[in-house]
Amino acid sequence: MAEDLQISTGSKIEQYESLLPQIKALTEGESDFVANCANIAAALRQTFGFFWVGFYFVKNHDQLVLGPFQGDIACTRINLGKGVCGTSWQKSETIIVDDVDQFPGHIACSSSSRSEIVVPIFRNDIVIGVLDVDSDQLADFDETDKIYLERLALMISDLIDA
Ligand code: SME
Repeated sequence: MAEDLQISTGSKIEQYESLLPQIKALTEGESDFVANCANIAAALRQTFGFFWVGFYFVKNHDQLVLGPFQGDIACTRINLGKGVCGTSWQKSETIIVDDVDQFPGHIACSSSSRSEIVVPIFRNDIVIGVLDVDSDQLADFDETDKIYLERLALMISDLIDA
């Protein structure tokens, strides 16, 4: 297992290109899904300094329930179609919100959060959870984050039965 995270000082693309193989190395020797998600949240926050990084997982087919995260305490349950997370789950697609105050129904877990990206995690074409990343800066997420976080979501999906 990799013990230390090497944080690239380059562009955002270079940072993701450096981070994803390290996450693979960090998780491949560990079979516990919760432990791996906890370290993935930490690695993302350590690398980019995001305000909040965490997971919500679908429980009983009707709610997202808070999973491993890094950051301030957060709301524990989100219904289908509610907030950015519930909307990403309902639409089965990544949602980037440049200004959370402009997103109807945004669930404010912290007033410090200004922009957000939510990426669904699929298993056999069904959304089983979402990766939620919040920034305290407006418009902090773009197509690069979408591409790499969706790649990460695929890696996470592969970890479920590891
Ligand atoms: N803002 C999210 C709720 C989760 S917190 O940001 C951690 C939403 O609207 O779904």
